[in-house]
Amino acid sequence: MIKKIRFEHSLAAAYILAGGLWIIFSDRFLNSVISNPEVMTQIQTYKGWFYVFITGIFFFLILHKHLKKLRDAEIEIQQHRDNLHEMVVEKTRRLDKVVEELSLKNETINRQNEDLKHVLENLNNMQAQLFQAEKMASLGVLTAGIAHEINNPLNYMLGGLTGLEHYFEENKLQHENTDLFLKGIRTGIERINAIVSGLNQMSRTNTTYDENCDLHEIIGNCLMILSNELKYRVKVEENYADHAIIIPGNVGKMHQIFLNILMNASQSIGTEGEISIRTTNSGSSVITEITDTGCGIEEVDLAKITEPFYTTKDPGKGTGLGLSITYSIIKEHNGELRFNSVPGKGTTVTVELPVKKHTL
Ligand SMILES: Nc1ncnc2c1ncn2[C@@H]1O[C@H](COP(=O)(O)OP(=O)(O)O)[C@@H](O)[C@H]1O
Ligand SMILES: [Mg+2]
Repeated sequence: MIKKIRFEHSLAAAYILAGGLWIIFSDRFLNSVISNPEVMTQIQTYKGWFYVFITGIFFFLILHKHLKKLRDAEIEIQQHRDNLHEMVVEKTRRLDKVVEELSLKNETINRQNEDLKHVLENLNNMQAQLFQAEKMASLGVLTAGIAHEINNPLNYMLGGLTGLEHYFEENKLQHENTDLFLKGIRTGIERINAIVSGLNQMSRTNTTYDENCDLHEIIGNCLMILSNELKYRVKVEENYADHAIIIPGNVGKMHQIFLNILMNASQSIGTEGEISIRTTNSGSSVITEITDTGCGIEEVDLAKITEPFYTTKDPGKGTGLGLSITYSIIKEHNGELRFNSVPGKGTTVTVELPVKKHTL
């Protein structure tokens, strides 16, 4: 490969060549025209100066030309460098802006994602509650229908019994035994009557929240419905306030509150135990405390038990909807629901409901 000859090499070569030729030819020429050695020495000195002068100009012109080119190139490079720097700064600024916009968009998307998650969760909860409400409504219609159907024959029975009692009295047919039988029949009929009217109250489908709710009557109805579940196993102690407590609300839904809480209390008790119910009127609100001697609630579960579908019970025994619905109903009544539990010892569920009519 032929190497490109550098400028400084060719310059040096040209200088040496020109110098050599100058010395040879100028000396020959001078030798041919000058014979005096003194003059010759003088002329040789001038010749040397002349050569230095000419080559000096020559080098100046060449170096000037090349250095100018170099300086121009340097200026151009500096300009490019400045431009490049500006471009980099501008590009970085734009990039920063884009990154900022992107992170803002990301934040918005994340927020929207969270919102969507909440909406989905709420929808699921609503769906579950709607499902349960629908079931309760159907159950209410069924119960109301049955209660109505039982009511008619019950009235015949009551009429017949009253007639019989009069007949026995008028004809002086009373006997120790017949009195006992008649009393037994009356007690039975009265009990059926109480159950039917309790069921009727429970299955009321009113949607208003300003009915007069008799708290003790409602709890009594719930206990009656649960009597089969409770008897022989759970002792129920009722420590009610000494006066009737009437609060505004929805009678049917109020039954649902206490039925769910009492059902949980009963289910928490194994072979035997106790449920005590205490009602107090604080003036602005009514407090109902339902304490059981059941299994209690573990700390980790406590925060989640009002969530829909949260259950610690075996499949088929619990749906996990009872307390979530109870909580919603209590909130609809502007009330509070609290739990106090010692695992292995028992639980106290406190329901606080306002005495005054609330606005929804
Ligand atoms: N009185 C109680 N004693 C012990 N655990 C309870 C009591 N009340 C509620 N719980 C706990 O709360 C959970 C949720 O109750 P709930 O919403 O009524 O659903 P479910 O009764 O169908 O399980 C129950 O599974 C249970 O673990
Ligand atoms: Mg339950």
